[in-house]
Amino acid sequence: AHRIIIDTDPGVDDALAIMLALASGQLRIQAIISVAGNVTVEQTARNACRILELADRTDIPVYAGCARPIGHTSVSASHIHGVTGMDGPDLPPPTMPIQPLHGVDYLVEAIRTAPQGSLGLVMMGPMTNLALALIKAPDIAPRVRQVVAMGGAWSEGGNITPTAEFNFHADPEAADIVLRSGIPLTLLPLDVTHQCLTTPQRLARLRALPGRCAAAAVAMLEHAGRFDLAKYGWAGAPLHDPCTIASLIAPDLFGGRQVNVTISLDDALTRGMSVVDWWGTTKRPANAMFMRQADADGFYDLLSTHLARLP
Ligand code: BDR
Ligand code: CA
Repeated sequence: AHRIIIDTDPGVDDALAIMLALASGQLRIQAIISVAGNVTVEQTARNACRILELADRTDIPVYAGCARPIGHTSVSASHIHGVTGMDGPDLPPPTMPIQPLHGVDYLVEAIRTAPQGSLGLVMMGPMTNLALALIKAPDIAPRVRQVVAMGGAWSEGGNITPTAEFNFHADPEAADIVLRSGIPLTLLPLDVTHQCLTTPQRLARLRALPGRCAAAAVAMLEHAGRFDLAKYGWAGAPLHDPCTIASLIAPDLFGGRQVNVTISLDDALTRGMSVVDWWGTTKRPANAMFMRQADADGFYDLLSTHLARLP
């Protein structure tokens, strides 16, 4: 099994991604670290605990990480995920403890103590925690097996500004640090997540699943879906973060290229934009596997069969 740490800001799609990871026998989740993003870091930590309690997996420790991005005073996408960050289901307040150690310190310690190249990181929110860990302890970079992250956008532009995707726009400095770190990186950008739409038929299949986890997932999707439908006028809302976990469980679901990706930091028009050298027009070396194709039916198939395994 792949040993992973999940860094996340739940978040409706983060919650589904965590469930997918919990349901997979191929992944061993060592810990979950929360970050400020969709809602505050306190709330994202509590939301992670809620999912673990729902799935009967309180053996997985939850750490709270950074309270704000490097270059902004705050950030939020509660207009999409609701004030709790996971609006929809009626989940009780969590009772499991949040670990006392700061998420960044945990990350440094976990990477240093894991066998060289054994630990993977899955990033589902702004990359603040990993960026600060890399600043604090540059020795960890060559020890990480890989980073799989939801972030960036190329062919269709952004979802929070015309040019930038939310996670990269929320903390462009952090994304820049991770992209320059030399850690093997796989990006699941809007290019693929916007292909993985929660159509009525796919939602109906999820609704038919037994178990309280699937029921909570559907309640969240129905809440978030309404908003996105109004925004995009599509046949269903995109499902972003579960693409990271799906790419680890079933790599054939996604296709892309090793390319150079650079983050725009300074221009108001393009701040947080992922500039992708898809055609190799610069001499900049490749630093990421940038995904652009997705097998959406295969992805929803994987999601349904996995959620069916949870309580
Ligand atoms: C990303 O933004 C967040 O709102 C989602 O959870 C996802 O990680 C998509 O742009
Ligand atoms: Ca997220």
